Amino acid sequence: MPLELVDHRADAAVKQSWTPFPSSEDYEHPDWWSSASGAVGDPWFVQVLENGTEVARVQFDDPGGISPHYARVPTVGGERLEIQHIEVAAAARRRKVATRVVRALVNRHPDRRLFAYSGDADGFWGFLGWEPFYDSRPGPAGRTLFIQPNPEGLRKCAARLRPRQL
Ligand SMILES: CC(C)(COP(=O)(O)OP(=O)(O)OC[C@H]1O[C@@H](n2cnc3c(N)ncnc32)[C@H](O)[C@@H]1OP(=O)(O)O)[C@@H](O)C(=O)NCCC(=O)NCCS
Repeated sequence: MPLELVDHRADAAVKQSWTPFPSSEDYEHPDWWSSASGAVGDPWFVQVLENGTEVARVQFDDPGGISPHYARVPTVGGERLEIQHIEVAAAARRRKVATRVVRALVNRHPDRRLFAYSGDADGFWGFLGWEPFYDSRPGPAGRTLFIQPNPEGLRKCAARLRPRQL
């Protein structure tokens, strides 16, 4: 079943009072989608529907920032676009929803290079075939940075999915 991406965007001037998504018990982490007050610039969220039912929520940070403290990071300029958060509804997990969401976002933004700092989801980003980069500073490790690979890498990722999962 194809996914539908619905943008929820607002002006930065109203982000303190604007609510990106209604409250839902289908998600575990209301801290990021219940308020846009932490957004940098104009808040930009994406609602993901499958057959009319919401299955995931995403927040972009446009363009987002790549930390200079991460080692061997390729040069990514103004084309970068950060997936600040992605969360799949608890009941919809482990059936490739997040995989299809990220693929759909990549397809929708062919001129951008997506990246994300993993919040406890290194296994997922690694599954996508995105390359990991690590905080080189001493001390507690920062979140792993994953950057969308070149188009060849994306084709390899697609080949790992059965046609019905695309
Ligand atoms: C991480 C998350 C987005 C994955 O969503 P999903 O739709 O279940 O992921 P997919 O079904 O597309 O997973 C594809 C593959 O990624 C890997 N993967 C997914 N979730 C994983 C997890 N929690 N731990 C380790 N590997 C995981 C697996 O290899 C999986 O394939 P498999 O199910 O055949 O083993 C979802 O678990 C979630 O919303 N978690 C809470 C919020 C969060 O951590 N977001 C990420 C912030 S960066």
